[in-house]
Amino acid sequence: MATVIGVVNQKGGVGKTTTTVNLGAALAKHGKRTLLIDIDAQSNLTTHLGLGPKEDAEAVEKPLIPEFTIYDVLKGNKELKDVVIHRSDNLDVVPSSLFLSAADLELGGVVGRELILRRALASVMDSYDFVLIDCPPALGLLSLNALAAVNRVVIPVQSEYLALHGVRQLLDTIDQVRGIYNPALVVGGVLICLHDNRKRLARAVSDTIRAYFGDLVFDTVIRSNVALAEAPASGQTIFEYSLKSSGAEDYEALVKEILEDV
Ligand SMILES: Nc1ncnc2c1ncn2[C@@H]1O[C@H](COP(=O)(O)OP(=O)(O)OP(=O)(O)O)[C@@H](O)[C@H]1O
Ligand SMILES: [Mg+2]
Repeated sequence: MATVIGVVNQKGGVGKTTTTVNLGAALAKHGKRTLLIDIDAQSNLTTHLGLGPKEDAEAVEKPLIPEFTIYDVLKGNKELKDVVIHRSDNLDVVPSSLFLSAADLELGGVVGRELILRRALASVMDSYDFVLIDCPPALGLLSLNALAAVNRVVIPVQSEYLALHGVRQLLDTIDQVRGIYNPALVVGGVLICLHDNRKRLARAVSDTIRAYFGDLVFDTVIRSNVALAEAPASGQTIFEYSLKSSGAEDYEALVKEILEDV
């Protein structure tokens, strides 16, 4: 049975997608059969892995967009296993599409709408060791579907001003989902991302995060690293783009911490 991890924070740009991609790639490198699910309409994870629309002129004429996506699954038109794309050794992807931006509204009247993803996952649980879900920067229906479906939540936070803004609301939502749909849901854990240890503010905020969350914070810190920001443009994970970068080092350290814990 797969361990299902949701990468969640309604705050934008904190490192959710970067973490989902590179933690997933690190798990695959360790021989774990890994499925990454993109449930963000922005489709950043899909694009980051070279599976989404490209940004060059040719691509405008002939956009390379996956034929079927998580949108078809949520709408009930496809089974999850039928929209999986094999990306590389041990690494599969369920792509997203821009249509997902309408899903909140379109699924608004569906009974059991918070549990669509959880039910869809059942058919692939035996095929993977890990399933990672990259959530959008909102606590809407898509993130609720993820929270109802996962065993644990990883919360990336950036060690900048207002890092903890909204985290109380996120923890309350997690508590509610645990109470109603998913009693086994654990927070494990909080990940400090985009950290610049040379900045006094970053060190202070990171101390505050550790004081607030205690043991829930991963020992591993993901440092700010140019290679991590560049890799998406070439459709590569950090291990493909720059194996010697601090980004590769940090995500490798994170995967070791997670594998010890699972
Ligand atoms: N450790 C890092 N060092 C440098 N750049 C990073 C790092 N982590 C993420 N980035 C860059 O910061 C931006 C935001 O990261 P990312 O897309 O992972 O955040 P997100 O939380 O998924 O954003 P959104 O809320 O929009 O989905 C991206 O351009 C990404 O390439
Ligand atoms: Mg993202």
